[in-house]
Amino acid sequence: MPKKPAVKKAAPKKSKPAEKSLNPNENLPKDVKTAKKEMRSLEEELRHHQYLYYVKNTPKISDFQFDQMFKRLQALETAFPDLMDPASPTLSVGSDLDKDFEKFTHKLPVLSLENTYNEEELMEWVLKTDTEGLYSVEWKIDGASLMLYYENGILANGVTRGTGGVGDDVTQNVRTIRSIPLRLSEEVSVYLRGEVYMTFSDFEEFNEAYEGKYANPRNLSSGSLKQKNSTDVAKRPLRIFTYDAFFPGTKSKFKTHQEVMKKAEELKFPLPPDTKLVKGSDIPATIKDFKKNKEKVGFPTDGLVIKLNDLAKRESLGYTSHSPRWARAFKFDALMKESKIVGIDYAVGRTGKITPRAEIEPINLAGTTVTFATLHNQDYIDELGVGIGAIVRISKRGEIIPAVEEVVTPGKEIFKIPLRCPSCNSKTEKKADSVDYFCPNPECPDRVKNGIIFYCSRKQMDIEGLGEKQVEFLYDQGYIKDLADLYSLKKHKEKLMEEEGYGEKSVSIILNGIEESKKKDFRFVLSSLGLREIGPKVAELLIENGYDSMDSIIGAAKSPKKSEALLEIPGVGPSTVEAVVENFTDKRVLTLIDKLKKAGLKMKADPIQKSDKQPFAGQIWCVSGSFENFQPREKAMDLVVYYGGKKVGSISSKTTHLLAGPGAGSKLDKAQELGVTVVSEEEFLKMLSQNGISV
Ligand code: IVH
Repeated sequence: MPKKPAVKKAAPKKSKPAEKSLNPNENLPKDVKTAKKEMRSLEEELRHHQYLYYVKNTPKISDFQFDQMFKRLQALETAFPDLMDPASPTLSVGSDLDKDFEKFTHKLPVLSLENTYNEEELMEWVLKTDTEGLYSVEWKIDGASLMLYYENGILANGVTRGTGGVGDDVTQNVRTIRSIPLRLSEEVSVYLRGEVYMTFSDFEEFNEAYEGKYANPRNLSSGSLKQKNSTDVAKRPLRIFTYDAFFPGTKSKFKTHQEVMKKAEELKFPLPPDTKLVKGSDIPATIKDFKKNKEKVGFPTDGLVIKLNDLAKRESLGYTSHSPRWARAFKFDALMKESKIVGIDYAVGRTGKITPRAEIEPINLAGTTVTFATLHNQDYIDELGVGIGAIVRISKRGEIIPAVEEVVTPGKEIFKIPLRCPSCNSKTEKKADSVDYFCPNPECPDRVKNGIIFYCSRKQMDIEGLGEKQVEFLYDQGYIKDLADLYSLKKHKEKLMEEEGYGEKSVSIILNGIEESKKKDFRFVLSSLGLREIGPKVAELLIENGYDSMDSIIGAAKSPKKSEALLEIPGVGPSTVEAVVENFTDKRVLTLIDKLKKAGLKMKADPIQKSDKQPFAGQIWCVSGSFENFQPREKAMDLVVYYGGKKVGSISSKTTHLLAGPGAGSKLDKAQELGVTVVSEEEFLKMLSQNGISV
């Protein structure tokens, strides 16, 4: 099996997840008829899962299960060679071909790696392969595989793996990835293989601007390579690590993998960090060290790759139809525990999306008690075949919320997402291209309540005293029907104080919190309305670029010419413009805005205050990463602006300084590329204190 999914995997119905591999040669059929039946069925199933993984980007089974099926089919093909399908899935390495890209025939077969899941299996392979030699132990980066073809020092083609023989030519998109050199310092021809990925911090920053639309960095990375519009790709913080290179033409002067990678590094290709060259017997200790650092690397990995270093030995070992014999992937075990499903509920979010959630018997996973695990959507539930009483395996990986991954024993009948919204009984809808069901009713109580909860939350209007529980209560008891009603709540003060749990003190905290929210700057008002795509990032971009009042934004939305001009804002793409137009011409939204305006909320951004001291005058600053003394990091930029500087959201040749902290993303690469002064938190604090500014 080639590249494997990292998250959102579900096992097929009634599967028995096993830690130890089953023997694929066990119970081989004795007669041709039975063998043929099993082979055709395995081929069909493998093709289906390859399609789900490579084309649809929505894997439904675990790596382990795919490998078990793959190995079983291989065993059957060895036992019954006459029955082998000339287009068997074992002959290819999956396909991510997409209709609209030009096809490119790879200059070398793009093979995959065989997986091992435990150290025993891995060490058996080492013993079989070379007990004396050195092995390169590397991070297995969980991104999208990419081939880069350079002709005479120029990037000629960037190609996805595709079938392994033919891939999609995604050169235009690849050219936008800043860590990929377009021209090399030497006029060499070289073919490289690497993994396109995103750091966790870049992913979070990017996803925040899209209100958490993307599931994980891996999906976003591989989806990005297949974008039709390369300017959209350029806005995504993609990076690459290269881990293999081939110099065609003359007989290679390189004797080892290490020498090849050293050359790639000289040519300015980024290599995976921490790679170790070790003896076979030291592999277990090396694995332990890597595992310890897994959480610290800052990019997604799903294991290690162990490769023999000596190139001549590699050649003598050779290849199977889909993988080299000289390398193995070693997958880290996912953090999983078993529990029983005791119930299910369906959350209707503020956008109307309906998410099913399994209630489980509490378990402790990675230090936290887990009582709910997401079931994502109906497709996922169907694939798993889960119902109440099912024993399931729950995973928790990194930042990702707990999810039901596999079924050990299926429960009673399979859950079905209701055809009607559990909150308002409207008929649920499934949008084209989406696996999710939505409640289409903008007045749906759960949608409205969740919208108000979002509006009051700490990151948004930060209304003290109004958490989830209170908003639900106020809504359910008829005190508020929409968020504008918050501003007439004081009329019901006396009545509210008669409610249980709403004493004078708590009511005055709430009313005071609501009153205080009127002082919140327009940038918060704008992003708190919960409008599609108008999150904190977009709000900031609009304001910084002159759309600093509700009137100017509504004005831009109404005029096609003006809305087109929004595209000139770096970081604002066609889908954001479409959302601005749709939202700010919607009668319901305009009425709400009107009510908020009448209630006294700020509809224009505050003019930026400046100090008499202007030490940052003439400087243009950008910020990336996280900081100990500035949380949120915008606080650092507020100081820059107050003391005379300008802040921008992205690096350009005009930017003079980048304040960079741990996890600084692609902005750091770009700053270095453009010679922008990079300032650490410590240096920044020093600059401030030298100018008599205390934090
Ligand atoms: S070497 C001939 N090294 O993992 C095999 N692959 O499951 C060349 N991957 O298809 C692959 N990190 O997309 C290699 N350090 C690394 C890797 C790596 C991630 C991916 C690659 C490959 C898949 C195999």
